[in-house]
Amino acid sequence: MNLKEITKRILYAGVNDRSTQLFEGLWPLPYGVSYNSYIVKGGAKTALIDTVELGHSREFFNSLKRHAGIETIDYLVINHMEPDHSGAIPTLLTLCPEIKIVGNSKTIQMVKGFYHIEDPSVFLEVKDGDTLDLGDVSLKFFLTPMVHWPETMMTYCPEERTIFSGDAFGTFGALNGGLTDDEMDCAIYIEEMYRYYSNIVGKYGTFVCKALDKITDLDIDYVCSTHGPVWHSRIPEVKDIVKRLATYTPEPGVTIVYGSMYGNTADVADLFACELNKLGIRNIKVHNATVENLSQIISDAFRYEGLIVGAPTYSNEVFPPVQAFLNAIRIREIKNKVAAAFGNHGWAPLATKAIAASLQDLGLEFAGSVAMKQSMCEQTAAEVAEVAAKVASMLKYR
Ligand code: FEO
Repeated sequence: MNLKEITKRILYAGVNDRSTQLFEGLWPLPYGVSYNSYIVKGGAKTALIDTVELGHSREFFNSLKRHAGIETIDYLVINHMEPDHSGAIPTLLTLCPEIKIVGNSKTIQMVKGFYHIEDPSVFLEVKDGDTLDLGDVSLKFFLTPMVHWPETMMTYCPEERTIFSGDAFGTFGALNGGLTDDEMDCAIYIEEMYRYYSNIVGKYGTFVCKALDKITDLDIDYVCSTHGPVWHSRIPEVKDIVKRLATYTPEPGVTIVYGSMYGNTADVADLFACELNKLGIRNIKVHNATVENLSQIISDAFRYEGLIVGAPTYSNEVFPPVQAFLNAIRIREIKNKVAAAFGNHGWAPLATKAIAASLQDLGLEFAGSVAMKQSMCEQTAAEVAEVAAKVASMLKYR
């Protein structure tokens, strides 16, 4: 891939990954993913911002050698140490033995820990607000811990009004020719941003808000994230999405999540969807946790205001795929939902109670629960209608 110009002094040096099936070994990549790296060329010095995942570094180094003159790189700025961005560091050091690694104290500790690079003369430690002069252009560093690891920082180039934002504003999807958002149809990248945020960064909303506050007064024409398009025309839109997700501000809609062994619990899920639809709710996402990866389920649960969860009792526990979903939303501390529970039991109504307790433990507004015994009957249908009506009446976003 050729290095692509973003501004006169900033080039894109990232790569596409269309072969990895599960990001972080967990999250499906139906559209692939890009690992973004950037070059900032000053009058005196050149900096590389982040590298790429080790398995996709061949193309990265080929591009740097063919188009940038890899030997001219003076600094490697590390915004984020997760190996999808830092994997190529050891090879880079062998190709550029004079390069200085620029990072904060936590970054440097991680470089040593992950890659056993110990020589102190390799490192240039920076603190929050420090700048690095490249001649004609400069880089200013903003420490933004937990977006998404403790060492994460953002790097701002004021002369080019460009921020290298690390994982913030990242999204899944390989880049298919275009680089900036106005060079492509962004529908998939925008949709995948919800999944990326909720799956990867979702636990750290408070820290994301702090980071957004930190950069709020900067003049920004280009947002260069570690994954996905370079944001230019759509900066207000993607900022709004990230801000909403970080503050757990919901969108109109209801997510129904269920697991089912023989279809009886699925009947309850379908009935909830029908009752909500009768009440005028149009955006209803029904997920079968037994057959779906949790990724999109977490994303919709994060995004929409209503959340209804149901499962059979299984070995006196919640049916495992639904328990895994409950664990995922607990870990992500989701908030600001109207919730309800349902369950099915042959003889012990454990699941309904346990699901209700999990949702209430999260502090969600709880509309009620339905415990079905064995299969759908008139009484259960009436209870579903009642709880669905309560959910609908409690929704603020319609
Ligand atoms: Fe793409 Fe947190 O790394």
